[in-house]
Amino acid sequence: MATATQAVRLEDNVTRYVSKTRQMLINGKWVDAASGKTFPTYNPATGEVLAQIAEGDREDINRAVAAARAAFDSGPWSKITPSERGRLIWKLADLVEKHGEEFAQLESLDNGKPLTIARVADVPLTADIFRYMAGWATKIEGNTIPISAHGAKFLAYTLREPVGVVGQIVPWNFPLLMAAWKLAPALATGCCVVLKPAEQTPLTALLLGELIQEAGIPDGVVNIVPGYGETAGAALAAHPGVDKIAFTGSTEVGKLIVQAATGNLKKVSLELGGKSPNVVFQDADIEATIPGAAMAIFFNHGQCCCAGSRLYVEDKQFDKVVEGVSQLASKIRVGPGLEPTTDMGPLVSQEQLNRVCGYLESGYSEGAKATVGGKRHGDRGYFVEPTVLVNTNEKMKVVREEIFGPVVTAIPFKDVDDLVAKANNSEYGLAAGVWTNDIKKAHRIASQLRAGTVWINCYNVFDAALPFGGYKQSGWGREMGHEVLEMYTEVKSVCTPIA
Ligand code: NAI
Ligand code: MG
Repeated sequence: MATATQAVRLEDNVTRYVSKTRQMLINGKWVDAASGKTFPTYNPATGEVLAQIAEGDREDINRAVAAARAAFDSGPWSKITPSERGRLIWKLADLVEKHGEEFAQLESLDNGKPLTIARVADVPLTADIFRYMAGWATKIEGNTIPISAHGAKFLAYTLREPVGVVGQIVPWNFPLLMAAWKLAPALATGCCVVLKPAEQTPLTALLLGELIQEAGIPDGVVNIVPGYGETAGAALAAHPGVDKIAFTGSTEVGKLIVQAATGNLKKVSLELGGKSPNVVFQDADIEATIPGAAMAIFFNHGQCCCAGSRLYVEDKQFDKVVEGVSQLASKIRVGPGLEPTTDMGPLVSQEQLNRVCGYLESGYSEGAKATVGGKRHGDRGYFVEPTVLVNTNEKMKVVREEIFGPVVTAIPFKDVDDLVAKANNSEYGLAAGVWTNDIKKAHRIASQLRAGTVWINCYNVFDAALPFGGYKQSGWGREMGHEVLEMYTEVKSVCTPIA
């Protein structure tokens, strides 16, 4: 197995995990692809192959959907009590914690993120969402409904029932956590799942599959089929046996998912791209704002759908904030994720490296200037320097489009109304940040921003109880909180005369 350095002793289970071809999980069995094909997953710190994975395609999706259908329609999952479901999900959370170091190491190897971050963010947030949703399993209730018919008395009530078999397609930026955000509410509501991890980062979802079995979740309830988007992903999105598709990824592919879903009008929820404004007023606590604004963009190398990638600063503080964020950026230690001293790892793939460097070139050709960073870091692996771009405006591609890398554009503003218009001038509406000590202004601006999440004097705060999702082309529906339960249930009205 190839890693740039071996600063950390790898867990035995991690070494075992990447030493042989990983199979897919269908109906409780680990199996090869029907075609026998495999595909490589790479270590982005070196560009070398990390492991071979069974390559799922249409036929494997067919097998997995059949298993999920059987488990849902007539199998054990349809008969299990809510309390037992909750207990199994809680047990899975415990197992995730028990294997936390293995998950953190695999995530660092496969995705590139610092091991230190995977340990404190990806793994504990994964355990949290399973625990939070375990609690909901016994609390999914309907209502009693008053009926106004004349001359008769009715009893009417609603039931909230699982939507059925759910196809879940997840991206590579938080491979384990994105799988957990989707699996946890599906299991809590009593759905069965076919999960397709991203082709760049399939490893942690497969390890999670082993723990799903160990927890005692019955065969066929969760099936995991790794493979490419255009083949396995597209087959899942179009499958007539799937009742709902839940997708996180690019807005471009989100639109393809919607089209593929029209065949059987399956339900669709989408968590898509963003170009989130992060707004700094001159009355903010600038000392706290500078590290906050840096973290808003540089966390996870900017590979966050909600990254604070458009920094708007009131003109009197513009120079100070840009200088402060640039200085912090210059101190970020870029290196392999497994090195204990690394603050920022590589981007996930050669494709993303090319994409982000392409945006930098486009910015320079339109007149943008980098105050720090501004190019690829080194010549091995997929590293990019943390970058702050100035001399930018709303017409530029780097300000309009999602870069999904450690690149922030900084723009000064004078007038508040103009600022709100600029902040909202985006096809996206996922998140926003507001930094100010004026409490009225903070909440007024929060109400004016067209975004699914507004962070005031903080950024990137996630919680299993806090709904997350997008306005406009950032998506349909919400993840987490009790809001997500609506995405995984159907409402049935039952009505009968009683007098
Ligand atoms: P993508 O949207 O192609 O990939 C996300 C998932 O969708 C993967 O599992 C992929 O296999 C699957 N997929 C791809 N094409 C599909 C299709 N036709 N049908 C069904 N599933 C399909 O994203 P990609 O190409 O990896 O990254 C491109 C850009 O997308 C990034 O630069 C970033 O801007 C954005 N992105 C946004 C994410 C978010 O969290 N909102 C996550 C990943 C990427
Ligand atoms: Mg793609």
